[in-house]
Amino acid sequence: MKISDESIREIKARIDIVDVIGDFVSLKKSGSSYKALSPFTNEKTPSFFVSPAKEIYKCFSSGKGGDAISFVMEMEGISYIEALTYLAKKYGIQIETKEETDEDIQRQNERDSIYIITNFANKYYIDTLWETKEGQSIGLTYFKERGFTDEVIRKFELGYSLDQWDAFYKEAIEKKYDESIIEKAGMIIKKDQKVYDRFRNRVIFPIHNLTGKPIAFGARILTNEKNKPKYVNSPETLIYHKSETLYGLYQARQAIRMNENCYLVEGYTDVIGLHLAGVENVVSSSGTSLTEGQIKLIKRYTDNITILFDGDEAGIKASIRGIDMILASGLNVRTVIFPDGEDPDSYARKIGSAEFKGYLESNVQDFISFKAELFARDALKDPIKKAQTIKDIVQSISKIPDPVLRSIYIKETSGKLRIDESVLIAELNKILIAERNKAKNLPPPLPDIELIEKSMDVQQEAVHEVEESIKLQEKESIRLLINYGLNKIEEEHHLYEFLLKELEDVEFQTPLYSEIYKIFKDQLKEGHIIDADYYIQNSPPEIKNEIIDLITQRYEISDNWGNKKIYVPKEEELLNRSAYENIIRLKHKIIKKLLDDNMKEMKRLKDDDEIERLQKVNIELNKIKVELGKKLGIIVGI
Ligand code: UTP
Ligand code: MN
Repeated sequence: MKISDESIREIKARIDIVDVIGDFVSLKKSGSSYKALSPFTNEKTPSFFVSPAKEIYKCFSSGKGGDAISFVMEMEGISYIEALTYLAKKYGIQIETKEETDEDIQRQNERDSIYIITNFANKYYIDTLWETKEGQSIGLTYFKERGFTDEVIRKFELGYSLDQWDAFYKEAIEKKYDESIIEKAGMIIKKDQKVYDRFRNRVIFPIHNLTGKPIAFGARILTNEKNKPKYVNSPETLIYHKSETLYGLYQARQAIRMNENCYLVEGYTDVIGLHLAGVENVVSSSGTSLTEGQIKLIKRYTDNITILFDGDEAGIKASIRGIDMILASGLNVRTVIFPDGEDPDSYARKIGSAEFKGYLESNVQDFISFKAELFARDALKDPIKKAQTIKDIVQSISKIPDPVLRSIYIKETSGKLRIDESVLIAELNKILIAERNKAKNLPPPLPDIELIEKSMDVQQEAVHEVEESIKLQEKESIRLLINYGLNKIEEEHHLYEFLLKELEDVEFQTPLYSEIYKIFKDQLKEGHIIDADYYIQNSPPEIKNEIIDLITQRYEISDNWGNKKIYVPKEEELLNRSAYENIIRLKHKIIKKLLDDNMKEMKRLKDDDEIERLQKVNIELNKIKVELGKKLGIIVGI
């Protein structure tokens, strides 16, 4: 296919990059640009930016960047020409193309050919539904019985496949489509030298990709025959990857963005049933639990998912496991449960559109409370079940990446199960620590708010403890400096050079040591390397006393983990190690304090952007902390 230069110019003139990217990603205005979670990675904080002025996007987590056309290419995995075609369709621009010949069709690469045959099949099934006697009397009648309107049938491009062995196959061959491509598109089955249509005597639900192209089909049987499958679905093809596709997303995406929520249902007919009830932000996972790819798709549009459950307790309990993965993705999960024996589609038809919407709104519940309530009934009676239930629910809570949310859910669960919060917190921390130990190389999870918040006393004590140990390490730095500053460590260097270099980016927290350190540096600038004597001769009593203390006493430096540093008699011989350890410990303590301060600040703030910023700081600090911890060969506690 060729698009004329004139058409390309027209398309480019019409492109609005925010609008184009906004179809795929939920953009938030941020100054003169827009930001979003990167659609290319699994990030939790936005590093994807769009500049309308420059007409470019940049994704800092994947490094990708470019204009609107390259974005569409990247996003859909399509060619330049396909991206232009997509944009032309979006803006209603007629593109001038060369008429396709048989030869052209042959030359298309397989992917393109499969798109074309799938599109042809889609049109064929639609025509069969509306234009043939059988389609009307069987297919349309079936849809009408289920309450589907013409409008919704058209919107979802529903179709019908005739009750014949190879009606579609014959039609496609007659239209000169390549047999091997028809097969690769999953439309036919070859068996014993014979060729059959995959879909026969069924109503057809086409599955669309995000640009609205049909990529696969689900076909429902019309009878109650027990020995035939209720649905026959397309196999995986070059253009259809089930685990990366959500039924209804193409029709739902605008509504998902606008409502900032995505309903998740089980089946094709539930999606359509909800549209009929005026609820358009709905997708289906086609009967299986969500895959990571599907979760990522939803995250492009919203952070909120509401799972609609059929009212059958055993079924719900079975499908609940898969939901921890959704929580781990950072999506907020809510649930609505329907009365026993009803699915969303049947219930919507039963009570009508307005009532149904009301039902969704008044029965929505966050997933954790839902789960707690679901198991509470059994648990409140039976202590063994109760223990299991606590584990189960805390397990779910532990998956939530946001520590503030985790703490809210701990509170709620504590109320629902009538269990002391501290018990749940202890269980939560056990899981978090176990998980981290499993994945030693990953940065630790963010420390839990609850721990800091637990009680004012404990908090004061903790802060005091950190400050105290910073002070001790600072004291040790100064002690080494003034006692051994001129000692050689390694071949060429003096200890003071090592310490000063390492302490370049460290600010002493204790005023006394900060002052002593400053005097040392000031004198160094003058060309003097001072020792204890200088301080004793020239300083006020406070400093003098401290210096005397430092040159006459041995200090036992303890740390938070209860390790005792053991000094051998000839300290000079081990200066190297002492200094190194001291510096690492000091930095480690300071980072710990910064983390605590940061966490407290985060607790205090209301503004999401600010919290997000601090969370980034938190992650960075944690990384440094882990690095330092590794150097010390210790396991860093929360
Ligand atoms: P349902 O049995 O709930 O189907 O299966 P449904 O779409 O709601 O249809 P109705 O309301 O009974 O007419 C849920 C989903 O599981 C998949 C389909 O994606 C279906 O939409 N499924 C089910 C199959 O793929 N094959 C089957 O045989 C059954
Ligand atoms: Mn159903």
